[in-house]
Amino acid sequence: LITPVILCGGSGTRLWPLSRKSYPKQFVPLIDDETLFQASAKRLSGSRGDLQFGAPTILTGSDFRFIVTEQLQEIGIDPGAILIEPEGRNTAPAILAAALYLLDRDPDAIMLVAPSDHVVPDVDAFHAAIEKGLAAVENGKLVTFGIKPTHAETAYGYLELASQPDASGAAVDLKQFVEKPDASHAADMLAAGTFLWNAGIFLFKARDIIAAFAQYAPSLSAPVTNAVETAQADLGFLRLAPAPWSQAEDISIDYAVMEKADNLAVVPFDGGWSDLGGWDAVWRETGPDENGVVTSGEATAIECENSLIRSDSAHLELVGIGLKNIMAIAMNDAVLVADMSRAQDVKKAVAALKTKG
Ligand code: GDD
Ligand code: MG
Repeated sequence: LITPVILCGGSGTRLWPLSRKSYPKQFVPLIDDETLFQASAKRLSGSRGDLQFGAPTILTGSDFRFIVTEQLQEIGIDPGAILIEPEGRNTAPAILAAALYLLDRDPDAIMLVAPSDHVVPDVDAFHAAIEKGLAAVENGKLVTFGIKPTHAETAYGYLELASQPDASGAAVDLKQFVEKPDASHAADMLAAGTFLWNAGIFLFKARDIIAAFAQYAPSLSAPVTNAVETAQADLGFLRLAPAPWSQAEDISIDYAVMEKADNLAVVPFDGGWSDLGGWDAVWRETGPDENGVVTSGEATAIECENSLIRSDSAHLELVGIGLKNIMAIAMNDAVLVADMSRAQDVKKAVAALKTKG
């Protein structure tokens, strides 16, 4: 039995104006009618072949707790637990809290840690990869999933394989994990051909990741253990204790553990994956037509090329004429128009609006 641990604490500022502080991207229908969070929960539910998923453990902030319960109810999934973080301290404390919570219920608990904001179109291939990872987990490995890199991305972690994967697709030991390299290091790793991108999905036994935290990020153990042990049940939620939680370092699992651990393995995954890190990725994943155009909602494109024209407002007709490499996204109260190449700069819009107040 595998317990899905779904992380939904991120803010997703690069997908403004759809993604808002009060309603971040994972809770918004971006690609189809389902939200990314719902798709993530569904992908990790039920049983297929030898793979059996238990009820998910969800980690989120207090503001999103009812969105989580409502969206799970819509798809008929009962959460095993919803842990509320008093404040976002990044993925390391969140994952450690989940591991401690699960270990307490099952000393052999296996967790599949997944972000809530990714697109994985081929669910069967994804399940096959998880199954491959299970054998390594039995040997005490911390399993990552590796995506073939297509460019020198600096926003991802890189996984260096210790040996070439064989045809069985079994997990391969990892030589090193490099989180978010600078541009030249990323280019070198791409050229080397022995690196994969880290998909941000992890499979391990609760006890193994707890041991890794104790070894590589020992300062997290006391505050997080304390926050879990003195957590307060509140309706269906479990509120981690704020005082010890605020003492936990704000750090991602990639820096806290993965870059340092020597028992990592990777399952290569080529079933398609996107972390929807910007509107250009949404445009790509939504399936542009032969001119590279995506229109969605109340939107019309006339003689446009390589553009995303999207209105998520029933009150706003959006029309593009002769656009090239443009993204235009309209909501009731905000419109974003930008060059497609500036997708990563959308977070600047959010920052600018914040200072404007
Ligand atoms: N509950 C909770 N609490 N979730 C969080 C928190 C938190 O404090 N911080 C982030 N998350 C969630 C995000 O919502 C997302 O689903 C996931 O954890 C990963 O966090 P990101 O902040 O999106 O990480 P990243 O994209 O910079 O990097 C990670 O993912 C890449 C692939 O998308 C790393 O694992 C990279 O190595 C990896 O390549
Ligand atoms: Mg991310």
